[in-house]
Amino acid sequence: MADIDKPWGGRFREATHELVEEFTESVSFDRRLALHDIRQNLAHVEALRAAGILTEAEAEKLSRGLREIEEEIREGRFVFRRELEDVHMNIEQALREKIGPLAGKLHTGRSRNDQVATDFRLYLRDETQEILSLLRTLRQALVDKAEEVFGLVLPGFTHLQHAQPVLLSHHLLAYYQMFSRDAERFREALKRLGVCPLGSAALAGTPYPLDRELTARLLGFDRPAENSLDAVSDRDFALEFLFNAALTMMHLSRLSEEIILWMSPEFGFVDLPDALCTGSSIMPQKKNPDVAELIRGKTGRVYGNLMALLTVMKGLPLAYNRDLQEDKEPVFDTADTLKRSLKLAGLMVEGLTPRAERMRAAAEEGHTTATDLADYLVLKGLPFREAHHVVGRIVAYAEEKGLKLWEIPLKELQRFSELIGEDVYQWLTVEGSVARRRTLGGTAPERVREALARAREALKEEARDLETQRS
Ligand code: ARG
Repeated sequence: MADIDKPWGGRFREATHELVEEFTESVSFDRRLALHDIRQNLAHVEALRAAGILTEAEAEKLSRGLREIEEEIREGRFVFRRELEDVHMNIEQALREKIGPLAGKLHTGRSRNDQVATDFRLYLRDETQEILSLLRTLRQALVDKAEEVFGLVLPGFTHLQHAQPVLLSHHLLAYYQMFSRDAERFREALKRLGVCPLGSAALAGTPYPLDRELTARLLGFDRPAENSLDAVSDRDFALEFLFNAALTMMHLSRLSEEIILWMSPEFGFVDLPDALCTGSSIMPQKKNPDVAELIRGKTGRVYGNLMALLTVMKGLPLAYNRDLQEDKEPVFDTADTLKRSLKLAGLMVEGLTPRAERMRAAAEEGHTTATDLADYLVLKGLPFREAHHVVGRIVAYAEEKGLKLWEIPLKELQRFSELIGEDVYQWLTVEGSVARRRTLGGTAPERVREALARAREALKEEARDLETQRS
C-alpha cells in the first residue's frame, strides 16, 4: 500500500479525512509567516553548511531555490495549498518541486516546532518595530497639538464632574505619557523576543552539530534560547505582545471616549474633520465620531485575544502541543487592530479642532476655583479642613443665588469668614487657578512648557537612535 501524500505520510495507510484536513490546517492564516519562514530556512541552510551536512554546492542550490520562492511570495505568485497543512510544509514542497529531492535535506536537525517558534518571534519583532513607529507618530501628534492649542483652558474632571481648570495641552500630554509608557513596554519586550529557538528541533535538541550562535546571529537575535523544551513550547512572548497591545488599546479607548464626549453638543469642546467621521443613513444631520467609537469597541476583541491565548496555554504539558497552533490568529488580529487604531488615533489628534470659547466657558462652570478659595484661606492661617468647610458653605450659597464665586460681593463673602479680603478675587479666576499649580507635573503654563520641551527632546532622541541603528 502506498504512503499517503504528505511530508509526514510514511507511517499512514489511510488518506486524511477531509474534515480533519480542514480542521488541522493552518496555512490559511500562517501564510503570513511565509517571508519569515524563508529567512529562517536560509539561516538553517547556513548552519547545515557550516556543520558539513550540506556541501557548498547543495547549500547554494537550496538557498537559490528558497530565494526564488521568496520572490514568488513577494509578488503574490506563490500558491498555498491547504492539503500541505501549514506554511512550512508548503514552502518545503515548493522547494522540492523546484530543485528535486535535495529539498529533503533542508529539514535535517530541525522540526516545525522550533521552526514555527522562530518564525513567530521574527514576525513579532517586525510588528513590534512597526507599532513603535506608529506610537511615535501618535505621540508626536499629541505634542504638536499640545503646542498648537497652548493656553486654552478646559475644566478638568473627576467623576466626570467639573473639578479644577487645566490647560488642554496638559490634558493632551497626559496621553503622551501613557503612550510613551506603552512604547517603553513594547521596546522592553524586544529583549525577550530576541531569543532564537532554532536548533531546539522537536523538543530535545539535535544530534547534528548545528551552530546555534550562528543562526541566532544570522536572524538578528541576541542569543539562542537556553532550553530546548522551553524554546519550542512557551508562548509567553506572544502573550506579552497581546498584553502590551491590550494596554495600549485601553489607552486608545480612553482617548477615544473623550473625543466622543467632547464632540457631543453637550460638551461641544472639539470638532473632527468630516473625513474622519461618518453619517447616519436616516438622520441627515448626523456627523458621528465612529472611528473613535470603533477604536473603543475593538479594544474588546484585543482583550479577548489576550484571554484566548492565556486560556490556550493554561495547563499545557511540555513540550509542543498542537494547541499552540491557536497562538497565531489572536496575535495577527491584535497586530492588525492595534496598528489601524494607532494610525487613526494619530489622524484624529492631528485633526482635532478645539472650540476655545466652549471650553473656557465650561471651565468657569461648576465652581472650579473653589479649591483655590480654600487655599487662599489656608494662606491666611486657617487649617485646610476648616477652610474646606467654609468654602463648602460659600459654594452652597453661590448655588442658591445662581452666582459664580467671583460674582459674590466681598461683604457677603466676609459673612463666611472675616479672613477674606479684597485680594480674594484674584484667587477665583480660572487663569489664576491654572497658573498657581506650579508643582512639578502640574498644569501651570510654565510647567506645561517644560513638559512639552521634554517630550520634544525625547522624541528627537528616539529619532536619533533610530538613525544610528539604521546606519
Ligand atoms: N502549524 C503548526 C503550528 O502552528 C506548526 C508546528 C506543527 N508541529 C507539529 N508537531 N505538528 O503550531
